[in-house]
Amino acid sequence: MKRIAVLTSGGDAPGMNAAIRSIVRTGIDKGWEVFGVCHGYAGLIGGDMEPMGTRSVSHIIQEGGTILGSARCPEFKTEEGRLKALRELHQHDVEALVVIGGNGSQCGAHALSEMGFPVVGVASTIDNDLYGSEVTIGVDTALNIALEAIDRLKVTATSHERAFLVEVMGRACGYLALMAGIAGGAEAIVIPEVETDPEAIAAELHRGYERGKTHALVVVAEGAQYNAEGLVRYFEEHRNRLGFDLRAITLGHVQRGGAPGAFDRILATRLGAGATDALARGEQGVLVGIHKDEVTTTPLADAVANKKQLDLHLLELARVLR
Ligand code: ADP
Ligand code: F6P
Repeated sequence: MKRIAVLTSGGDAPGMNAAIRSIVRTGIDKGWEVFGVCHGYAGLIGGDMEPMGTRSVSHIIQEGGTILGSARCPEFKTEEGRLKALRELHQHDVEALVVIGGNGSQCGAHALSEMGFPVVGVASTIDNDLYGSEVTIGVDTALNIALEAIDRLKVTATSHERAFLVEVMGRACGYLALMAGIAGGAEAIVIPEVETDPEAIAAELHRGYERGKTHALVVVAEGAQYNAEGLVRYFEEHRNRLGFDLRAITLGHVQRGGAPGAFDRILATRLGAGATDALARGEQGVLVGIHKDEVTTTPLADAVANKKQLDLHLLELARVLR
């Protein structure tokens, strides 16, 4: 192996820079050249790549986002798009590609690897919906950002005896909402994995007030059957009967842009090194993730074919604790 390339794709996640740094430095340590591809698969198709040195990744471990830029690239979903990317990789004498990204990005990595090119994925998404890694880069930081917002809302909610609803990201996965709800002591948690009954939520909030609570907090996942907008509308339509307003806060991209915490910096550093180690061992077509604190590889075919399961016992625990 002489030259590898690295790209970041899909939604950015705090810790992506730490992963880039680790891949560049461990790759160089192995005697390879490392190219950075700008703007994910779009940059790959356009041949937008440059050599990176150990100094080009200085002072980025603490930065959120990705210095390489990221993108959603519909063209890469087509065989024609991927053939263009392959031509660019060959033209730049790149022998293997590392893809830092989430579910969709790893589908792209798998598709490219199926065309015969050596690809290794690094599990990175705030959604934690990627099979092949117990936890993905960015989750911990995003969770802490959501938690800070929840803690603050609780303070003002208590002063005014108000009910707040916080919508967190996660796409079709309820992981962030479930964990933010547990860690933030929410009165109700609404996730896509479980059917939502707005009446049951209202009853739960009422019971909380009856037990002497001075606030009510609902954490809802953006992908839930009733998201923030849906729940607020329902509560407005039935205001007289339900008896109170629900004020909604959508955290949105605020959760993605933070500086990575210690957990994500270390996870990203280990997974980045795991990617170059895998390539050095001759492994390809795999996703590098973490299981029981061990860096592991899972065939990309399995990573994209399987759905990561949420531990719904935790939802039950949250019910007991509220
Ligand atoms: P994430 O990686 O955060 O889940 P996306 O789902 O948006 O983000 O995927 C990022 C990019 O990965 C897409 O814009 C596309 O270029 C590529 N991609 C997604 N799914 C596929 C697929 N089935 N085949 C090839 N490329 C894909
Ligand atoms: O996959 C990460 C994520 O932040 C999801 O939680 C969210 O649904 C999506 O990306 C938002 O995408 P965009 O940044 O394109 O609006």
